[in-house]
Amino acid sequence: MCGIVGYIGSKDIKKILLEGLKELEYRGYDSAGIAILQNNELKIYKAVGKLENLINKTKDLKTEGFGIGIGHTRWATHGKPTELNAHPHMGEYSYVVHNGIIENFKEIKKELNDVRFISQTDTEVIVHLFEKYLQDLNDPLKAFKATIDRLQGAYAILLITKADPSKIFFAKKGSPLIVGRDGEEIYFASSDAPLIGHAKEVHYLDDGEWGYAQLGEVVVYHGDRAIDLDFKPLTLNKELAQKGGYRFFMEKEIYEQSDVITETMMGRIKDEEIEFEELDQEFLHGIHSIKICACGTSYHAGLSGSYLIEKLARIPVMCEIASEFRYKEPILQKETLFVVISQSGETADTLEALKMAKDAGLKTLAICNVDNSSIVRLADRTILTRAGIEKGVASTKAFTTQLMVLWMLALYLAQQKGIDPKKISRELEAMRKTPQALKVDPDLHERIRRLSKRYLHGHGFFFIGRDIFYPLALEGALKLKEISYLHAEGYPAGEMKHGPIALADPELFTIALMPKNLLYEKTKSNVEELSARDSTICAISPVAFELADDFIKVQNADHYMLEYYEMAVALQILAMEIAIRLGNDVDMPRNLAKSVTVE
Ligand code: G6P
Repeated sequence: MCGIVGYIGSKDIKKILLEGLKELEYRGYDSAGIAILQNNELKIYKAVGKLENLINKTKDLKTEGFGIGIGHTRWATHGKPTELNAHPHMGEYSYVVHNGIIENFKEIKKELNDVRFISQTDTEVIVHLFEKYLQDLNDPLKAFKATIDRLQGAYAILLITKADPSKIFFAKKGSPLIVGRDGEEIYFASSDAPLIGHAKEVHYLDDGEWGYAQLGEVVVYHGDRAIDLDFKPLTLNKELAQKGGYRFFMEKEIYEQSDVITETMMGRIKDEEIEFEELDQEFLHGIHSIKICACGTSYHAGLSGSYLIEKLARIPVMCEIASEFRYKEPILQKETLFVVISQSGETADTLEALKMAKDAGLKTLAICNVDNSSIVRLADRTILTRAGIEKGVASTKAFTTQLMVLWMLALYLAQQKGIDPKKISRELEAMRKTPQALKVDPDLHERIRRLSKRYLHGHGFFFIGRDIFYPLALEGALKLKEISYLHAEGYPAGEMKHGPIALADPELFTIALMPKNLLYEKTKSNVEELSARDSTICAISPVAFELADDFIKVQNADHYMLEYYEMAVALQILAMEIAIRLGNDVDMPRNLAKSVTVE
């Protein structure tokens, strides 16, 4: 995820672009850049790290008078956060900023064999492709159209060129892009926030829309057809705009999951197989087992992943809590692949565990959301989750994307082992439906909001599930603990009878994860045992359960992983709605930190 801005007009361009990027820093902050075209002169500035660095670098730049400009704040997906990889990317006389992923960039790169590429990004192909088409077609608009017609994947693009120095060319598919105006002046941004205080009205571009803007004019096409613009007045509340209209960042991030997971999968699911450019046979040669190490929510993703890898690839996996692992004098064997999972890439316990594995000579792989973080720098290989910045302390989209990487990894390993392609094909079919399973159904949200009022007191919660739904139960309980401050435990459903069932009474709330496609009858028996002892039951399942006091119906029931994903969303919403009713700060719960860099 990245943020982009653009401006055409006579105000101070540098100021407008940099202030706009500041509002978008929540979308990425590992590097940033701006390009300005003024008096037929192109100026470009880039800096690695926080936006402050770019602001310092452009301190002496004066940009009064008419001009056009584009800017970008980056969240690395292809290539490290370096100045060369920072946007805008340049051709000979054109500059581009892009948010999204160009899936076929390698293919295009091969075709443009006379071009010298200077970055490792997928984006750079756009500007070179544009200049090649411009040479052939001698018309910037046609060349831009020909360029976007070639791109597969997701994008929001702004392009400026000396060949037509009064225009910004733009296109949107999959990634957000808004065009705003105030009289003659034109603005672009990835979200509302940078536009507030500048643009009076905005048009939210739809997928497939593209066109150009110049002073006083915006022309938008869908395919070859020019469309009528639908400008609407802009909200005036900045904070609301940053949260995309949601009450909390956590809520925004829950709703974002369906889109973000598509980015996680992008370019990695090919027709009938999984491809990871980050891995190869040589790296995995000689690996007979896997050890996963992580903390908190990442540990729950890891534990879920351990079930998936054993099920699908038949490779033994152990998942351990990093703070425990470090001091248990672990036995580390060279044929074990050591996998660490971390949203931030900075968690001290996970980082130390990784160091131990490296010192013992193991091959190491990080699954991480932040490129260039300490963990990414240390691990031999990294698979980025591409979730974008997560602001809510209670992790949501980081979790679901980590699990997607692990599911894809399980299938990748299964392929390497030559496991039945039919089995792999069934998994891929389900995987492609994940965005749908993660989409929040407003009716479901409302139902959970209403039933949440029954769960504000009592003497505790048990979240229960079996198999891979056990780690999900752990995660559901953790979410509730983190933001509601109520006592909750995750437990394997079959283990309740060995002790915890002694607690059962009407004030003990059982949140039962009852998937149709995995051990339904077994889980049902365990829930019946609790119900017989008067525990209050909230069942989450595609199958109606007559003993449940409350029932949350799961719609996506073709595959246990789709049930898993839909249930994950339901649990996140349940925790959030309970916390809201209790009047807690959902985004910044007491006593917690987003990234824990101490032991
Ligand atoms: C902290 C956060 C948790 C997170 C854990 C691991 O405790 O509050 O939400 O799951 O750290 O963080 P990591 O960045 O390594 O995934």
